[in-house]
Amino acid sequence: MCGIVGYIGYREATSVLIDGLSKLEYRGYDSAGVAILGESKLTIAKKKGRLANLEDRINEFPIEGTIGIGHTRWATHGEPSDVNSHPHFNGKESISVVHNGIIENYMYLKEWLISLGYEFKSDTDTEVIAHLVDHNYNGDIVEAVAKTVQKLEGSYALGVVSKQEPDRLVAIRKDSPLIVGLGKGENFIASDIPAILNYTRDVYLLEDKEMVVLTKDAVEIQTLEGLPVEKEIFHVTWDAQAAEKGGYEHFMIKEIHEQPKAIKDTMTSRIMSDSDEIVLDDIKLTKEDLDNINKVFIVACGTAYHAGMVGKYVIEKLARIPVEVDIASEFRYRNPIMDEKTLLIVVSQSGETADTLAALREAKKAGARVMAVTNVVGSSVAREADDVFYTWAGPEIAVASTKAYTTQLIAMYILALYLGRLNGKLSVEEFRTIRDEMLVLPEKVEKLIQNKEELQKFADKNHMHRDMFYIGRGLDGSVSLEGALKLKEISYIHAEAYPAGELKHGPIALIDQDIPVIALATQEELFEKMVSNIKEVVTRGAKVISFALEGNTDIEQVSDQVVYMPRTISILTPILSVIPLQLLSYYVAVIRGCDVDKPKNLAKSVTVE
Ligand code: F6R
Repeated sequence: MCGIVGYIGYREATSVLIDGLSKLEYRGYDSAGVAILGESKLTIAKKKGRLANLEDRINEFPIEGTIGIGHTRWATHGEPSDVNSHPHFNGKESISVVHNGIIENYMYLKEWLISLGYEFKSDTDTEVIAHLVDHNYNGDIVEAVAKTVQKLEGSYALGVVSKQEPDRLVAIRKDSPLIVGLGKGENFIASDIPAILNYTRDVYLLEDKEMVVLTKDAVEIQTLEGLPVEKEIFHVTWDAQAAEKGGYEHFMIKEIHEQPKAIKDTMTSRIMSDSDEIVLDDIKLTKEDLDNINKVFIVACGTAYHAGMVGKYVIEKLARIPVEVDIASEFRYRNPIMDEKTLLIVVSQSGETADTLAALREAKKAGARVMAVTNVVGSSVAREADDVFYTWAGPEIAVASTKAYTTQLIAMYILALYLGRLNGKLSVEEFRTIRDEMLVLPEKVEKLIQNKEELQKFADKNHMHRDMFYIGRGLDGSVSLEGALKLKEISYIHAEAYPAGELKHGPIALIDQDIPVIALATQEELFEKMVSNIKEVVTRGAKVISFALEGNTDIEQVSDQVVYMPRTISILTPILSVIPLQLLSYYVAVIRGCDVDKPKNLAKSVTVE
């Protein structure tokens, strides 16, 4: 994620930028920095850690100037550190850049720039932009930025200033958000509206590839070809708190809506439609290493554990390596059999969960190879693992995990494809089929999120129940566990998930007309069996809401309500089926008046055993 902000006007830029960054900290808090243009001087101050560290630095060494750009970072390329913090300079320290997004072809550009004599200080993808603008600079910063972005692949929102042109600030976006704030004698850019609400409520909402040139008295929007763009002013009426949530009532629903982008970002530059290669920069495991491995453990807690269950299924299916999934708090007390032929994969959004970290250390002690799947660059599990797969979900604020889970699933799929191709168990044809289906998942997720009315309807009717059952077979069973966890943690309704075929061995005794049953039936090869299991609960009086793939209408005969999902191949359905379950829990919790983002007794990161 990351947040950017920019100012040009009559006030001291540092205070405006720090104020703006404080409203964007929810977008990332690995580091913060500003670049200020003063009397023919361009000065950067940046610090690892929270914004407060930067403030201390600026209080000690104030920087004067009325033009500047600022950044709060959620690390993707390069660990959190002072040097990897934004803004970045060109070599002559005359041009400075802040960036939110991911540059997919940065390695290629970096090598090319190095061959031209450019020297790099950081490990970030952003630094290539600073050098590229320098390379294209011929006295006109607008032209240089326009030329630069033609070479960039990936997503970006950029703010750029040049010492040679101390009265302009240039910004542009593609696939990352950017707005322009309009003041009197001052203008602003920001990733998000809250950053500028203390100064103005009039904004332009930029579209992809629109470039904006700000002076203190004017704002000009143009295409990359230099043609002017006319825009309507959007007047913001939300209060500051609502604006931080992007106008949503809660972070959880905002994060549910962010999933198409988070899923896309996590696949970005790793799997590509025109390539049979899977690019995983932080994984060093070779074919030889993999040939030596005879057992995989996936160890995690809560939602991450549920992602691991899907991981087991797909790694076994695609790479044909035996996988065991374990709850981290149990793992090391059961004396698991591990040695140098073991690969342990830990899955952790925060990368700091004490039990997961303890499992990782136990595995290392036993000589196993350790791979971390985490959302936080430089987190403890990332630092201690041999290989790392970063999910690029951006910060997750709501305690109940949503976008972290779906991006963990993407990580599991990509890893399974990677291992399967590396050990030759997965044919290139099978790989291509799965890859192509994965690349269209973001649109399907978007479609499901738009279809929320049916879930609101269910929530209206069923929010008073004390218990609910979730049933499914195969992968649907794993997703049921995640659906039930979401419901219990935010709505405090007791929810139990069971493999549908196992019901009749005991739990069916509980089923009656007071327990709604949520039935997942997305696995084509198990569909008929699932319909029979649903009949079993209907016979005992249960009201059933079923989730099935479009076209499988037979399920209507045994369900009170059916939610249909876009078709995809069976192994990928968890990414789709979890979306309505997240929405269902959310709406039930809202109707019950629960504190959705901060459920009682829970913390976002559990750093005690
Ligand atoms: C539930 C949830 C938790 C976490 C678990 C592990 O919505 O978020 O179950 O998944 O506490 O946390 P991480 O992934 O940070 O290790």
